[in-house]
Amino acid sequence: MKIPVIRTVKELRATTAEWRKDGLSVAVVPTMGALHEGHLSLVRAARERADRVIVTLFINPKQFNSTDDLAAYPRKEEEDAAKLAPLGAHILFAPNADEMYPEGFATTVSVGGVSEGLCGAFRPGHFDGVATVVTKLFLQTGADLAFFGEKDFQQLHVVRRLARDLDIPVEIVACPTIREEDGLAMSSRNGRLSAAERKAAPRIAQILFETAAQITAGSSVEKALADANNALLAAGCQQVEYLELRADDDLAPLAEATRPARLLVAAWLGGTRLIDNVEVAPVQDAAGALGEKERSGTLRAVA
Ligand code: PAF
Repeated sequence: MKIPVIRTVKELRATTAEWRKDGLSVAVVPTMGALHEGHLSLVRAARERADRVIVTLFINPKQFNSTDDLAAYPRKEEEDAAKLAPLGAHILFAPNADEMYPEGFATTVSVGGVSEGLCGAFRPGHFDGVATVVTKLFLQTGADLAFFGEKDFQQLHVVRRLARDLDIPVEIVACPTIREEDGLAMSSRNGRLSAAERKAAPRIAQILFETAAQITAGSSVEKALADANNALLAAGCQQVEYLELRADDDLAPLAEATRPARLLVAAWLGGTRLIDNVEVAPVQDAAGALGEKERSGTLRAVA
């Protein structure tokens, strides 16, 4: 069984119009291909929530910072299509660049706030490219639900923000990061690691989890982050672009884990830039009770 591949917006709209006539709900899973278990977990989640699932495959030139990076991005449409068919995805929408950005295309969707700092500081224009293509994919598919991985945590916030701000009637569903057995977060970029780099890469996740536990146990955030930064360099990372504690719900920078948080990192291992993030539970005091802010929130909730 093969998954039907659609290349034009016109044909996509004709297909979804038929589904709509039948009262079916539609989910979209946006991807740039080179599908791994992380993507497939999004497709499975989408199948559980919607009657019809569209997977999109478009290597979006507008979100790459260098032409070398764009050229090196893996292209595996046939393999991707073969992985999707058994999962019951209904359509692979794989437009070419001229279909997505026809001659004269001149519009950019730019999300403020959550796209600043973190990856936004190191990849100028990246989130404008993501926001522009994701907006188009939402409008082209008319999906009720859209599935994104927490691995790209800042992207998830950017996408939520744009859907809210532009009144696009799509529910953004966040799915957990899928990891290799040794803890490395799955990414299409992992295939670029040399054998030695691949061996070192799981340390990034280990350091994040250890640091998150220390912060929750009450360690100073400043010291925990400084130690983690040194540990990443000792593990073989040439450069740590950022290692930051941010609020889970709005990405606000946090000096203390007074509310549910994320520890986010971007680091270079050889010529490969890897990103990852882990949850950080709010700090607990020595008695194991919640921190001040959490405690007052809990008391308010109980009262
Ligand atoms: O996460 C990705 O693969 C891309 O940024 C996305 C969301 C498909 C937009 O091109």
